Amino acid sequence: MGVVLMSAQSAATQAASTPAASSAAGAGPLLDVFDRMGMTVALGDGVTVEDSTGRRYIDFYGGHAVASLGYGHQRLLDALTGQAQRLFFQSNAVDLEVRTRAAAALVRIAPKGLTKVFFVNSGAEANENALRIAFLVTRRPKVVAVSGAFHGRTAAAAAITDHHETWYAFPRMPFDVSWVPFDDVAALRAAVDRDTAAVIFEPVQGVAGARALSRNFVQAARAAATQAGALLILDEVQIGVGRSGHGFAADHYGVLPDVLTTAKGIAGGFPCGALLVGDALAAQLKKGQLGTTFGGGPLACALVEATLQAIEEDRVLERVRRVSKRILETCRVGPVEAIQGLGLLLGLKCTRPAKEVLAELRARGILAGSSHDPKVVRLLPPLVVEEEHVAQLAAALASLPRQAALENSR
Ligand SMILES: Cc1ncc(COP(=O)(O)O)c(C=O)c1O
Repeated sequence: MGVVLMSAQSAATQAASTPAASSAAGAGPLLDVFDRMGMTVALGDGVTVEDSTGRRYIDFYGGHAVASLGYGHQRLLDALTGQAQRLFFQSNAVDLEVRTRAAAALVRIAPKGLTKVFFVNSGAEANENALRIAFLVTRRPKVVAVSGAFHGRTAAAAAITDHHETWYAFPRMPFDVSWVPFDDVAALRAAVDRDTAAVIFEPVQGVAGARALSRNFVQAARAAATQAGALLILDEVQIGVGRSGHGFAADHYGVLPDVLTTAKGIAGGFPCGALLVGDALAAQLKKGQLGTTFGGGPLACALVEATLQAIEEDRVLERVRRVSKRILETCRVGPVEAIQGLGLLLGLKCTRPAKEVLAELRARGILAGSSHDPKVVRLLPPLVVEEEHVAQLAAALASLPRQAALENSR
């Protein structure tokens, strides 16, 4: 059952979960729907977390790509406490200077041509609204999605998340979906037609194991969507806001989407999501067509602004590219036979089950994530991770056997 109900977070954490931890969690007040790692995290500092027994770990998991500036970043603490003292909450019915500043900061790191921002609370909500925009402006019935996709758990986002047929709990699908095999340009061109409202994909699939689509595919999707009059939506919930080594991966691919969605690390760990569009699409939307109560609240916006300032002033994008290169150069050791992905969303393809490798890394003081690919260990660390941490990861990997003990003894 664990496999068919697997969600993004549970996929990442299930590798190291223990029956003892699961049953303890099941006995407590929380609904027991996540596979847990079997550890209690008590503290975070920089790129290190500490469990309740005082044991420290270098965090290459990053709270599932959310802790973009690590833990206890002074700029985030100051932004949060300062904003909380000034104004804790107000809705979108009133203007907030901090909301305008956060939107402007997001536009500054976004691909040129994306000029307007709508803030929400999560990745699924960003995708849900992106799809709503596509149906509003095209009045067409179909979405084209890519095999292996993960777009969220709400009704529309889940309909374009792969494996939905095994766990989709809503009584019927909300719209038609055409699935295109991963990176298959011919299938993509055949699928995008005059019924297509939107083509949506993650340029680098996170949950599928940090799989990057080719430039060829992404550019073909742009061309096919334009030709058919459909919108191109890039889901950068996981790879966006610096993780690719660019503001957004769209710039790595040289493509301007009609809608770009993002969330996770955008506010350094505070719940927030956003979608961006260009002027022409913005002009087609009318008042009342999108809405949210908490989205764009002052605390989230203060943290978006602080996170983006830190990314710019601390030259985080350069660091992401440098550290990513170091991982590619040094971590193809021990059980790692190949490395895929982009920036600091990387998949270590292993000769052995990721589950085993994750448990052995953890015993050596390193946390990482799993994925839907049972042979891929996923790295999604804070963007402020340093080369010295990579050296420790590489040393830990090098100390692991290439094959399982049983196979070695044969
Ligand atoms: C690419 C992608 N899109 C959407 C989502 C859903 O985001 P959320 O869990 O914030 O709703 C995720 C979550 O893992 C994701 O990785």
